[in-house]
Amino acid sequence: MKVIENITDMRKARKIMPGSVGFVPTMGYLHEGHISLVKRAKDENLTVVVSIFVNPTQFGPKEDFKSYPRDIKRDLAMLEPFTDIVFMPSDKEIYPEKYDTWVEVKGITDYLEGAVRPGHFRGVTTVVNKLFNIVEPTKSYFGQKDAQQVAVIKKMVADLNMNTEVVVCPTMREKDGLAMSSRNTYLNPEQRQGAVVLYRALMLAKELFAKGERDSGVMRREMTELIEKEPLGNIDYISIADAGTLKEIHRIKTLALVSMAVKFGKTRLIDNIMLE
Ligand code: PAJ
Repeated sequence: MKVIENITDMRKARKIMPGSVGFVPTMGYLHEGHISLVKRAKDENLTVVVSIFVNPTQFGPKEDFKSYPRDIKRDLAMLEPFTDIVFMPSDKEIYPEKYDTWVEVKGITDYLEGAVRPGHFRGVTTVVNKLFNIVEPTKSYFGQKDAQQVAVIKKMVADLNMNTEVVVCPTMREKDGLAMSSRNTYLNPEQRQGAVVLYRALMLAKELFAKGERDSGVMRREMTELIEKEPLGNIDYISIADAGTLKEIHRIKTLALVSMAVKFGKTRLIDNIMLE
C-alpha cells in the first residue's frame, strides 16, 4: 500500500494502473462501514484507491470541521489489507488560494439534509468531482447510510456525463442496530445507549409497512412517539419521501425513503431505510 499526498503523484500512479480502478472517497476515522466499501471495491477491481480528506467546504460554519475525529495511523492500518493507494491530500492541495469553482446539484439538494445544512452538498459534489478528476475511477463506492448523498452524486454523474460507475453499498450497523458512523465517537455512554432509538424507529416503520400501513402521517407519528420516549434524543426531522425526488409523500405508492436526523447533545445522527 502506497500513501500519496499530492495530485501530481496521484496522476502519475493512475497512469500506470492496469485495468479497472475502484475508488472509495472518505473523510477518515474509518470503521467497518467504510471498510465494507473498500472490500467491495477490492472484489470488483484490479486496483483500489481510497482517499482520506476531511473536506472543509461541506461543513457549515457552526459544524464540527475542526473537531472532526482524525486518526491517520489507525486508518492506514485498517486499509492496508485491501488497498493499493491511499490518497491523502492537504487542504491547500485541494483548495489552493483563490479557489473559485463549485459544482452544485439543484432540486434534490433542497430537501432533508440539504434543507438543514445549507451548502453541505455543494461542498460534497465539488470535492467528489475534483477527486473523480484526479483518480479517474472506473467504479466509485458510496454507502446507503448517506442516502441523499448517494442520490446527489448519482445525479451529478448523470448530468455531467462523468465516466465512473457509482456503486451503492448497504449500511453497516453495530450489534444493536446503530448505523456505524465516525461521529458515534462523540456520544457518551448514555447517549450511545439511547442512540439505538433511530434504528428502532426505522424497524417500526418497516413493521407498520409490512402490516399494510401506507399513510406516511400515521407512520411519522408512531416513529415520533417512539423516539420521544428516549429522553436524550431530540428529533431534527423524520421524513417519508419519494426515493427518486426526495419530496415528502402522503401515501407510499412506490419506493419510499424513510430517513431521520436525531440529535444527542451536539451530536447529530442520521439513518434511513427504503420501503417498497
Ligand atoms: P465519510 O462520512 O467518511 O463516508 C465515506 C463513505 O462511507 C460514504 O460513502 C458513506 O456513505 C460510507 N459510510 C459511512 N458510514 C457507513 C456505514 N455505516 N455503512 C456503509 N457505508 C458507510 O461521506 C463522506 O465521508 C464525504 O461526504 C465524502 C463522500 C468523502 C466527500 O467528502
